[in-house]
Amino acid sequence: AEGELRDQRGRHLHDLRISITDRCNFRCTYCMPKEVFTKDYPYLPHSELLSFEEIERLARIFVAHGVRKIRLTGGEPLLRKNVERLVAMLAQLRTPDGQAIDLTLTTNGSLLPQKARALKEAGLNRLTVSLDALDDLIFKRMNDVDYPVSAVLDGISAAEAAGFASIKINMVVKRGVNDSEILPMARYFQKTSQVLRFIEFMDVGASNAWQHQHVVSSQEIIDRLQHAGLELAPVAPQQKGETAVRYRYQNGGEVGFISSVSQAFCGDCNRLRLSTQGALYTCLFATQGHDLRSHLRASEFTDQATADAALSTIIRQIWEARQDRYSELRGQTSPDHFSEHRHTALAQKIEMSYIGG
Ligand code: GTP
Ligand code: 5AD
Ligand code: SF4
Ligand code: SF4
Repeated sequence: AEGELRDQRGRHLHDLRISITDRCNFRCTYCMPKEVFTKDYPYLPHSELLSFEEIERLARIFVAHGVRKIRLTGGEPLLRKNVERLVAMLAQLRTPDGQAIDLTLTTNGSLLPQKARALKEAGLNRLTVSLDALDDLIFKRMNDVDYPVSAVLDGISAAEAAGFASIKINMVVKRGVNDSEILPMARYFQKTSQVLRFIEFMDVGASNAWQHQHVVSSQEIIDRLQHAGLELAPVAPQQKGETAVRYRYQNGGEVGFISSVSQAFCGDCNRLRLSTQGALYTCLFATQGHDLRSHLRASEFTDQATADAALSTIIRQIWEARQDRYSELRGQTSPDHFSEHRHTALAQKIEMSYIGG
């Protein structure tokens, strides 16, 4: 029956991350470095993207297979024209027992002043905003397009004003670049209703020049916070398979740690990723996707119900064959060995902006 899929490691399908554009107005050095993502970079032409109708058709099938959370990502998802129309379409989806799904989006915040209200009205439940520093120089060095911190903070305020209650803040920590911002960020967001999550810099994609020495482990961050007098107590996970381990500050407020390098969380990984072009990836670090778009578009020649039934079977088979646990395997290999081989066998990894962080 649908809805109870298990992969080869007994994991259930729960989250679907959909990348809706491979473009971004930032050039974060760890994600879309300027030297690679130039003006001439071959971004996808519009005809290559899944249309909103195609995304909705697929999402409906995934929900029938057990998906309960859908996250829109990119690139920068708010750059996709009329994104609020897609949000409204996905907000209508219902699980087999009649529940709405958890619909959320990860953004760099720059377009929230214009978009927050429309997104809220369209039915978006939650928002995650990426912000790597409060210091303007450091932040500008990271986004590499001279984007000021104040504009992201304005975006967060706009989202609050539009009625978003649970906003998360993602900070990717890179040693020697923004680790001096760990404490200022923790102190600032402790006083707000937003939950800051520290993210270990990952070796995703093939162009961000990842080195193990750039990673600041979550344990080191926790030690630094405690050393500065911010006492932390662990909080039980809300859901199986969460990316973040959560803590509560003694004086109130919550903080999270996403430790995919030092403490891989593949064991409960319940996520699938749908690329901008409609290829399905069973792991953030996968080298090969499964093309679903050709099946969607084949229905111009057969009828849609037949094509959707075929897609449903294909998706079930992909999940049932799934074995991925990349981060766990990386943890078992010596870091140096691992980074040396990035330029040979592993250099085929898909860029995060395409597959959707
Ligand atoms: P919540 O629903 O708020 O828990 O969001 P999330 O943590 O699932 O998603 P978000 O987009 O905020 O991602 C936070 C960080 O975790 C990003 O750096 C992601 O790339 C990373 N991440 C998300 N899912 C995975 C995963 O399955 N594997 C790995 N290795 N990293 C992931
Ligand atoms: N390592 C860890 N996190 C990353 N992100 C982008 N690139 C990386 C990386 N190499 C984060 C973004 C965003 C989230 C979706 O993924 O900052 O918050
Ligand atoms: Fe854009 Fe987000 Fe990548 Fe930065 S991390 S370049 S904001 S997609
Ligand atoms: Fe899931 Fe792959 Fe991330 Fe492991 S590395 S948690 S299998 S996406």
